[in-house]
Amino acid sequence: PLRLDIKRKLTARSDRVKSVDLHPTEPWMVASLYNGSVCVWNHETQVNNIHSHLGFRPHSFIHPFIVDLALWDWDRKWVCGQVFEGHTHYVMQIVINPKDNNQFASASLDRAIKVWQLGSSAPNFTLEGHEKGVNCIDYYSGGDKPYLISGADDRLVKIWDYQNKTCVQTLEGHTQNVSCVSFHPELPIILTGSEDGTVRVWHSSTYRLENTLNYGMERVWCVCGQRGANSVALGYDEGSIIIKLGREEPAMSMDSNGKIMWAKHSEVQQANLKAMGEADIQDGERLSLAVKDMGSCEIYPQTIQHNPNGRFVVVCGDGEYIIYTAMALRNKSFGSAQEFVWGHDSSEYATRESTSMVKIFKNFKENKSFKPDFGAEGIHGGFLLGVRSVSGLAFYDWENTELVRRIEIQPKHVFWSESGELVCIATEESFFVLRYLAEKVATAQETKEGVTEDGIEDAFEVLGEIQEVVKTGLWVGDCFIYTSSVNRLNYYVGGEIVTIAHLDRTMYLLGYIPKDDRLYLGDKELNIVTYSLLVSVLEYQTAVMRRDFGMADRVLPTIPKEMRTRVAHFLEKQGFIQQALAVSTDPEHRFELALQLGELKIAYQLAVEAESEQKWKQLAELATTKCQFVLAQECLHHAQDHGGLLLLATASGNASMVGKLAEGAERDGKTNVAFLTYFLQGK
Ligand SMILES: *[C@@H]1O[C@H](CO)[C@@H](O)[C@H](O)[C@H]1NC(C)=O
Ligand SMILES: *[C@@H]1O[C@H](CO)[C@@H](O)[C@H](O)[C@H]1NC(C)=O
Ligand SMILES: *[C@@H]1O[C@H](CO)[C@@H](O)[C@H](O)[C@H]1NC(C)=O
Ligand SMILES: *[C@@H]1O[C@H](CO)[C@@H](O)[C@H](O)[C@H]1NC(C)=O
Ligand SMILES: *[C@@H]1O[C@H](CO)[C@@H](O)[C@H](O)[C@H]1NC(C)=O
Ligand SMILES: *[C@@H]1O[C@H](CO)[C@@H](O)[C@H](O)[C@H]1NC(C)=O
Ligand SMILES: *[C@@H]1O[C@H](CO)[C@@H](O)[C@H](O)[C@H]1NC(C)=O
Repeated sequence: PLRLDIKRKLTARSDRVKSVDLHPTEPWMVASLYNGSVCVWNHETQVNNIHSHLGFRPHSFIHPFIVDLALWDWDRKWVCGQVFEGHTHYVMQIVINPKDNNQFASASLDRAIKVWQLGSSAPNFTLEGHEKGVNCIDYYSGGDKPYLISGADDRLVKIWDYQNKTCVQTLEGHTQNVSCVSFHPELPIILTGSEDGTVRVWHSSTYRLENTLNYGMERVWCVCGQRGANSVALGYDEGSIIIKLGREEPAMSMDSNGKIMWAKHSEVQQANLKAMGEADIQDGERLSLAVKDMGSCEIYPQTIQHNPNGRFVVVCGDGEYIIYTAMALRNKSFGSAQEFVWGHDSSEYATRESTSMVKIFKNFKENKSFKPDFGAEGIHGGFLLGVRSVSGLAFYDWENTELVRRIEIQPKHVFWSESGELVCIATEESFFVLRYLAEKVATAQETKEGVTEDGIEDAFEVLGEIQEVVKTGLWVGDCFIYTSSVNRLNYYVGGEIVTIAHLDRTMYLLGYIPKDDRLYLGDKELNIVTYSLLVSVLEYQTAVMRRDFGMADRVLPTIPKEMRTRVAHFLEKQGFIQQALAVSTDPEHRFELALQLGELKIAYQLAVEAESEQKWKQLAELATTKCQFVLAQECLHHAQDHGGLLLLATASGNASMVGKLAEGAERDGKTNVAFLTYFLQGK
C-alpha cells in the first residue's frame, strides 16, 4: 500500500463548481462556478479574495456540449481553422497529448473515445469499450506508458494503451456516473470523481484502490492535481476542497562526503557538493548543483536513507524496500516491510513487518525476528533499536534483542549521537536529551541487579527537556542540531539552545560536513541550501561537555577571535568561570567574570581601560569585602563616590584619608561631605 496521508487544507462552500485549477507557484485555487462566477481562494490564508463575474455562463461547463469539434486559430482572429467530424453524440471533454501537441483525445456520450491528429479531420482511431456515455478523459504524463484514462456513465474507469489500442485495466467501484478522471502529475496515483459523491484514489501501477474520500459535498465534478506538489483540488455540487496527499518531507539523503541522493517520482538522482568548487556561498542561498541521473527505481520512493558508512542507500515505499549500492544504484537486497531502519553498525538493519513483528538483518541476511511485548507501531534506528508501541518506547540490544529499557514516551523521532552516549527523543510537544550509561547497563546485565520488567533502571539519565518540536535533527559530537516546527535552525548543547538561522520555509536537515564548516538542508522542491557552523566551536563545546579541557585547549586556537565570546558565555553557563575569563574577548564580559572570580587585578586593569564610574563602584565594593582598603579608596576616588569615601575613611579611622577627602570634597563642591570632614578634624 502507498500509505498516503490525506489532509484537508481548505473547504470552500459555493454554488456548483464545474472546474478547478491550482496556481503553479502561489497558494491559490481558481474555481469556476456553474452560475457564471469565478472565485479565487488563497488556501494558506483561507481567504476568498477575488470574486469576479464572467457575465455569461461558461459554455464549456454546460451540458449539452458540441457534437463536432472545431479548431479555432487565435492568431488569426479566431477563424475556425478545422472541423473534426466523427462523434455521433455530445463531446464532453478533450485533452491534448502532453507528449505530442499535435494529438488530442475526445470523450463523447456516443460511448467512444477518439484520438485525432491536427491536420486530419477524420479521427486517427477510436477506443470502444464503455457501455454508456464517456464523460471525462486524461493522458498519462509520465514518460514510461502510452496511456489514456476515461470515466463514463457505466460507472467504470478504463485505462487504455493508445499505441496498441487496447483497454489495459478497468477500475470498478464507483456507484454512480464517473464525472472526472486524472493521473496525478507527481504521485503514482489515479484520482476519479463520481456523482456518487466520492473521490477514489487508485495506485497507478497496481490499480489497487488505495482510498475512498467522501466529504459530503454531493456530486463531484472536477479534480485537478498540482504539478510539482502534492495538493489536489476537488470541485463539488456544494463547493470545493483542497487536499494534500502524502508526505511533505522529500525522499532525500546525504552521505558524509557530500553526495546527495533524491527521488523525483521514481527517478533517482544524485548531486555532489564536492563538484561545486570553491564558489562563494551565502548562508541560506539555493545552491546550483550538477545533477546526475542514477536510474529509476522499481518502487515509488517515499524515503531514501544512506547507511552509516554511506556505501548503501535504502529506498522505501509501497510497503517494500530495496537496498542499492550508493555508487551505481545496483540492487543489493530487497523485501517487504512497513518500515526500515539502519543500525549503528553499517552492516545491520531492522525492518518492521507488521504491528507485531520486527526482523534484524546482518550483512543482508536475516539474523533474528522477534515479537516485542507490546507490539511494534514504529521502529527507530541508531545505537539501540527503538520500538514504539502503546506502552511507550522500548530500546533493544541489536545483538541479542534483549530489552534494555522501556520509557513511557510517545516519540516521533529518536536521534542517537555517533558515540552512542547521547540520544534525543522528540515528541509532538518537546524533546528530551538523555545520556546512555553503557557501563551501568553492562554491570546490570552481569549482576541482574536493578533489572525490572521495564529493563535496566539506570540505563539512561535525563539531561534536559526543551519545549520545542523537532522536525529533523542530527548530532555533531555532543551538539544536537535541529529544525523546529517554527522553522528555526538551532542547536542544543549542554542545556543551552543556540539559534543558527531563522528559515523562511520548511527545511529538512541533510547533514553536516566538518571540512566545510557547513550544514546542508533540503526543501520539498529538492533545493539545497547551506548555513555555516564552525566545527571548531562544536568540537570545543563537545570537549567542555565531556570535561576534557586538554582537548578544549587544543581546539581553542582554531576558533576565530569573533567567536570566542560566544564560547565564553557557553563556558560561564556550564559553570566554568575561570575558563570563560580566559577565553572571552569582550571587556564587559571579562569584567563581570573577573568580579565573579574575585580577580581584583584583572578587574582593576579592565576598569582603568574602561574609565567607567560604574565599574569603579563595583570594584570598590569587591575591594571592600576583601578588606583591600587602599584599592577600595582608589576605586571610590575614581568613582567620585564621596559618601563611600567618607564611610571608608571614618570606619577605618584613617585621619590622613579624612583630610584628603575634605580637600577633594570642597574642590568638587560637595559641601556636605566637606563640612563634615573638616568638622571631624576640628577645622
Ligand atoms: C454564484 O455563486 C457564488 C457563491 O456561491 C455567489 O457568491 C455569486 O454571487 C453567484 N453569482 C451569481 C451571478 O449568482
Ligand atoms: C494518424 O494520423 C497521422 C497524421 O494524419 C498519420 O500519419 C498516422 O499514420 C495516423 N495513424 C493511424 C493509426 O491512423
Ligand atoms: C498492449 O500493451 C499493454 C502494455 O501497455 C499490454 O499489457 C497488452 O497486453 C497489450 N495488448 C495487446 C493486445 O498487445
Ligand atoms: C448518470 O447519467 C445518466 C445518463 O447516462 C443520467 O440519466 C443520470 O441522471 C445520471 N445520474 C446522476 C446521479 O446524475
Ligand atoms: C534486482 O536486480 C536484478 C538484476 O539486476 C533484477 O532482476 C531484479 O528485478 C531487481 N529487483 C529489484 C527488487 O529491484
Ligand atoms: C546472528 O548474528 C550473530 C553474530 O552477530 C551470529 O553469531 C549468529 O549465528 C547469527 N544468527 C543467524 C541466524 O544468522
Ligand atoms: C590612609 O589614607 C592614606 C591617604 O589616602 C593612604 O595613603 C594610607 O595608606 C591609608 N592608611 C591605611 C592604614 O589604610
